[in-house]
Amino acid sequence: MSDEWIPAFNAGSGLRGVPESLRIKQVEEQVSALRSSVICAFNQLLDLKDLNTGVHSTRLAEWGMRIGQELGLNEAELQNLEVAALLHDIGKVGVPDSILKKPAKLDEEEYALMKKHPEYGWAVLRMLPGFERAALDILHHHESYDGKGYPAGLKETEIPIVSRIVTVIDACKGLPHEEAVRRLIQSSGTQFDSAVVKCFLSFAQAEMATVFAAAGTSVSSAL
Ligand SMILES: [Fe+2]
Repeated sequence: MSDEWIPAFNAGSGLRGVPESLRIKQVEEQVSALRSSVICAFNQLLDLKDLNTGVHSTRLAEWGMRIGQELGLNEAELQNLEVAALLHDIGKVGVPDSILKKPAKLDEEEYALMKKHPEYGWAVLRMLPGFERAALDILHHHESYDGKGYPAGLKETEIPIVSRIVTVIDACKGLPHEEAVRRLIQSSGTQFDSAVVKCFLSFAQAEMATVFAAAGTSVSSAL
């Protein structure tokens, strides 16, 4: 959160005279609440455009956070990861439905437009104070570990770690469990960061079986 923004946000909240430490805590709580509201509002926008796969998107985001924790990301990175995991496709709001919902394969021109969505997402989220870094992480969520992705063709650790995690969970979206695992393993080290894939598979496979067995649904539909 930028320094310039906090006093403006806090103006008129009657906190003058309150001890500094308490004031900081209260501002942090306000910022945190605002961040949650923004995530929630944009997430609803994704629902309106039918761009979320419901509970699976949320679960994937939770698993993304788990990967981040296990890989030792710091608190700020984890906050950006939460935003990026939930809102990485927000830029698809700027892609026409005729392309988003086209059942057939996209032609070259349509695919070029579809590939604009990370930039659209970045352009929107970077306007929000405190979301600048997450906006960059979203910009790079279609980079490939071997440098063959877009929009910048970054490779390996040039790609932000948050983006590398989002790429892995995003690849699972809408796929049956077995297919998702097969794709991750097949492209580990080429499209995906193998450390991220290894971490994800270390807990996701076991938990998917447990969660979906308890819910009485097919493990195959987990992702
Ligand atoms: Fe995407």
